[in-house]
Amino acid sequence: MQHESSYTPTTGIGRWLDQRLPIPRVIHGQFVDFPTPRNLNYMWTFGGILTFFLALQIITGVVLVMHYVPHVDHAFESVEHIRRNVNYGWLIQKLHANGASFFFIAVYIHILRGMYYGSYKAPREMIWILGVFIYVLMMAAAFLGYVLPWGQMSFWAATVITNLFTAIPYVGESILQWLQGGYSVGQPTLNRFLSLHYLVPFIIAAFVFLHIWALHVVGNNNPLGVDMRAPKKEGLPFHPYYTMKDGFAMVVFLILFAWMVFYVPDYLGHSDNFIPANPLVTPPHIVPEWYFLPFYAILRAIPDKLWGVVLMGAAIFVLLLLPWLDTSRVRSTRFRPVYKWFFWFFVFTVLALGYLGAKPPEGIYLYLARFFTVYYFLHFFLVLPLLGFLEKPDPVPPSISRAVLGEDLSPAAGGTPEAAAAAPEKR
Ligand code: HEM
Repeated sequence: MQHESSYTPTTGIGRWLDQRLPIPRVIHGQFVDFPTPRNLNYMWTFGGILTFFLALQIITGVVLVMHYVPHVDHAFESVEHIRRNVNYGWLIQKLHANGASFFFIAVYIHILRGMYYGSYKAPREMIWILGVFIYVLMMAAAFLGYVLPWGQMSFWAATVITNLFTAIPYVGESILQWLQGGYSVGQPTLNRFLSLHYLVPFIIAAFVFLHIWALHVVGNNNPLGVDMRAPKKEGLPFHPYYTMKDGFAMVVFLILFAWMVFYVPDYLGHSDNFIPANPLVTPPHIVPEWYFLPFYAILRAIPDKLWGVVLMGAAIFVLLLLPWLDTSRVRSTRFRPVYKWFFWFFVFTVLALGYLGAKPPEGIYLYLARFFTVYYFLHFFLVLPLLGFLEKPDPVPPSISRAVLGEDLSPAAGGTPEAAAAAPEKR
């Protein structure tokens, strides 16, 4: 978003650098005096929390690799060695394992926030699309990482997921061998999974850079979903207002995270992953980590393997079409009395699919999984396009200043940005 930066270098080195590589000026412009809508709520703090968790995963991961042994005969023990013998290894390993779960908790809140407030709508489609790619990469990183401890669930998850590719006609078998590096999950698979698990987070970091860049071109959405038309009155500098708000939210979130790490560090893990991988013994129920369960439910709800894989992929990639499937003129669900119900029913659908993904695919569980799978897609392909035309939205305030300050200071209401800036402040 174009705005004047108030950056003035005060030291000789600062002035020298400013004329050659103005990194401090860019940081100041983007993260200190960046105009941010004054009405952002706590739902807008999860982007910062996600950035923190990405950094935490990379830092703890780099340390773990120093002690981890990527060999089918030693991987399991090496993780045990980290937990028992390496100084603070228990902490670093648990921060990394639970960090993945908290990363997903934060990303699901972040995505649902975007869906509720219509943050994917024009002009923010690119932020959203980059976000969907980040999400897919996060899933890849989490899956690859889960295989590394080489427990029973690691091994069998790798076997089940790589075998999904055999559903592809003609080339499926070749893709499977290429992925596994052989005719079954084994040493070559472990080597390549470690290599890729180390690589993917850096690709995510590059995408996050683009994501935030795209965000700073068009500026933040806000709970009202109306554009900021007089940034000087309707916005606040990012620092100190939002650095403080983001910081506070991060501390609260980290307290929950610390509780998990220090008191129930294995709660989210599966007991079978405390048994070393054994290719000769298949666990009774192969279940993925909790964050994959809704998609796993969709995969198993379909009686045909190929279609199961296709629909599971479609359930993720349909998010890319969201900006065009939602035909409503109004961004924020706050002003959509009917859609509000559909939105919460969609959230319920995803939770229900998550629950069903953990259950055996039989009897009532299977029928319910089929019902919610159908609804999942109806939400995108029927509810969103149709409701945009049929629903009569509630009146939307003409500007943020009208809703927040009780006075319309936007140029559209007759005031120029200068007049708005000069007007007395109301709080
Ligand atoms: C590593 C993962 C991610 C990081 C670090 C990240 C970071 C951020 C940050 C810092 C912001 C601005 C602050 C905020 O709105 O909370 C943001 C905004 C946004 N993100 Fe993400 N994000 C991630 C994943 C995603 C995903 C998976 C999606 C969607 C599929 C997404 C969609 C959006 C959208 C639409 C906005 C604009 C929000 C608005 O202004 O209303 N992000 N992201």
